[in-house]
Amino acid sequence: ADLYAPQRRNSAGIELNDPLALARLAEGMGAFGEHRWRAAPLVAGRAREGRARPVHEPADRRRVAGEVVEADEALVDEALAVAAAAQPAWDATPATRRAEILERVAELYERHRDELMAIAVREGGKTIPDALAEVREAVDFCRYYAAQTRAAFAEPMRLPGPTGEDNRMSLHGRGVFACISPWNFPLAIFTGQVAAALAAGNAVVAKPAEQTPLMAARAVALMHEAGVPGEVLHLLPGAGEVVGARLVADPRTAGVAFTGSTETARHIHRALAAREGPIVPLIAETGGQNCMVVDSSALPEQVVVDVLTSAFRSAGQRCSALRVLFVQEEVAERLLRMIAGAMDELAIGDPRWLATDVGPVIDEQARATLAAHVERMEREARILHRLPLPGETANGTFFPPTLVELDHIGRLEREVFGPVLHVIRYRASALDRVIEAINGTGYGLTLGVHTRIDATARYIHARVRVGNTYVNRNMIGAVVGVQPFGGEGLSGTGPKAGGPHYLLRFATERTLSIDT
Ligand code: SER
Repeated sequence: ADLYAPQRRNSAGIELNDPLALARLAEGMGAFGEHRWRAAPLVAGRAREGRARPVHEPADRRRVAGEVVEADEALVDEALAVAAAAQPAWDATPATRRAEILERVAELYERHRDELMAIAVREGGKTIPDALAEVREAVDFCRYYAAQTRAAFAEPMRLPGPTGEDNRMSLHGRGVFACISPWNFPLAIFTGQVAAALAAGNAVVAKPAEQTPLMAARAVALMHEAGVPGEVLHLLPGAGEVVGARLVADPRTAGVAFTGSTETARHIHRALAAREGPIVPLIAETGGQNCMVVDSSALPEQVVVDVLTSAFRSAGQRCSALRVLFVQEEVAERLLRMIAGAMDELAIGDPRWLATDVGPVIDEQARATLAAHVERMEREARILHRLPLPGETANGTFFPPTLVELDHIGRLEREVFGPVLHVIRYRASALDRVIEAINGTGYGLTLGVHTRIDATARYIHARVRVGNTYVNRNMIGAVVGVQPFGGEGLSGTGPKAGGPHYLLRFATERTLSIDT
């Protein structure tokens, strides 16, 4: 087994053009069309009851996907105490056993795929292809980290030394990890963080996003069913200000994995620095001001497809999504006309229908933030195209895909998290200024390049400081073990999720030298 070539395979998809496969999927998901899921704090394997609030569906706020009971601070304390006491035994469990349990989680996710997809669609507003990709990515994380655990944790590494001395280095869990995850990948990112922390020998207290507790509850139930002890993995749905803040401030928390906004990551960083107790790692994956550069040699038809996928799929609610398109002046007019034309073909609507390309944004606050941004753009920039919202979207939190022309990237103060694409024209002679502008955002997550000149792609890649660069293709949907994913600067601390170094950051290294 090798850290860089782990023995495993990524999960299989469904052929969404095959009527039989589709009918089976429709039947499988249909069984959960009216289901109501329930999420409650799960501490030491016991669900804790309390006052529940309904979880509304973003596609239609009148519909309810289930209800959630949120944790209070006393439960944070209890979860941390139980987790801290249980962690040493989990760390002492053979790594191969931990890997087997994660592989079992992957199997259970696959077996419950249709239900998990139904939750992604109803609670998270995901389209069906996105919901499928979500489950597959979660499954891939489990198998990938299981393989990495076998490769790096099962046996100590032997090191050289003088005759008569035996030197070894081994990896261990750090203690209790707090895993704080976002709503935009309520299964994949939730699972990626938790699986990695568990694989490395940590106990976990997981705090899912307030918007998507139902998916987290289902995921944790399957993890427990797969064999993760209840004392080792705890779930605390609740508010960031209550549960998250308490978790981070407590010295029993030995590490934090966080995915979400740059602002919250800073907040956590400060809180960790200010508290008593050990100095611990923060693994943060945050946002991006992701750009694509298109020069005059690019294939326009391909650019249009990749731009639409990158900017509007998942309603633009991916940290990898395209926000600013730099187009070489000579081809801009034609390309922007083609993009606007292709936008007209996007189907906006209920994510339960397979034909839907663009579903809702997550909640009213997200919608209002986008609306305020576009309003500002109406004054400071030029709206080139905006799709009408169909009547059926009236009861949901939808936002129309919008194309905005900007004179300068500096007009964007922060990441715009939704289906709004900004365009800036550039002169061929000013490519270096484009590169400067991209680096000047301070973010460094994804970058797209469309050019048929290999030297141009390499020139840009060598100078732009981002984690994931994609040439002549779309820039979303990083695949586990294929495009290890994560950024730098304002976009996060690394290491890359789904990459060979991820687990190591959740572990501590110890050496043993024996004079024999
Ligand atoms: N991993 C996701 C993607 O690549 C994150 O947004 O799209």
